[in-house]
Amino acid sequence: MNPTELVDLSPVIPVIVIDDLATSVDLARALVAGGVRALEVTLRSPAALEAIRAIHGQVPEAVVGVGTVRTAQQLDAAISAGARFGVSPGLTEDLARAATGCGIPFLPGVATASEAMRAAELGFNVLKLFPAEAVGGIPLLKSWFGPLPELRFCPTGGIHAANMGAYLALPNVRCVGGSWLTPKEAILHHDWESITTLARHAVSQAQPKP
Ligand code: 3PG
Repeated sequence: MNPTELVDLSPVIPVIVIDDLATSVDLARALVAGGVRALEVTLRSPAALEAIRAIHGQVPEAVVGVGTVRTAQQLDAAISAGARFGVSPGLTEDLARAATGCGIPFLPGVATASEAMRAAELGFNVLKLFPAEAVGGIPLLKSWFGPLPELRFCPTGGIHAANMGAYLALPNVRCVGGSWLTPKEAILHHDWESITTLARHAVSQAQPKP
């Protein structure tokens, strides 16, 4: 799978924080039932790596990946646990080296034109715009399409059901990321139906891409 195939799997990549490992497989199944296949489990909780391992082993329809990757060691550990893609909030030289040739698609985070150009120079042409709304959102992406037309983005940070459609309508956006599909309350109460409904609604906003 290359990065373009990854971002074309579904119009949204949920940004997931697993607090309780026991919820990971049911949560993944709920998202997949709503048509969302690429699942980003962030390294923001002690359970993250085990959750990746569990989803990878027990939910074959899901493409589980790792998010909030900041170091080469974290990327290696997540790949060993079964991560099939990686996402980071930014990009360092070390991480770029580790991600290049690691065998899975990697979306580095960028917030400025210079960072996007640097990432492209290092071989990454599908990028996470982060934090999307805070750094300029839709007007920023529109402005970048002129000088950086070959780059594609997965904006993340401040995206939700009401604004995702406007992002997806942009020619340089392949999918969006966000945490709104996995509300903490719903996970706590094992309300998998609500999560499937959120996922289904997000998928229904997909736009045809050339
Ligand atoms: C991320 O880490 O990608 C963001 O924190 C997700 O942002 P959101 O919570 O605004 O969706």
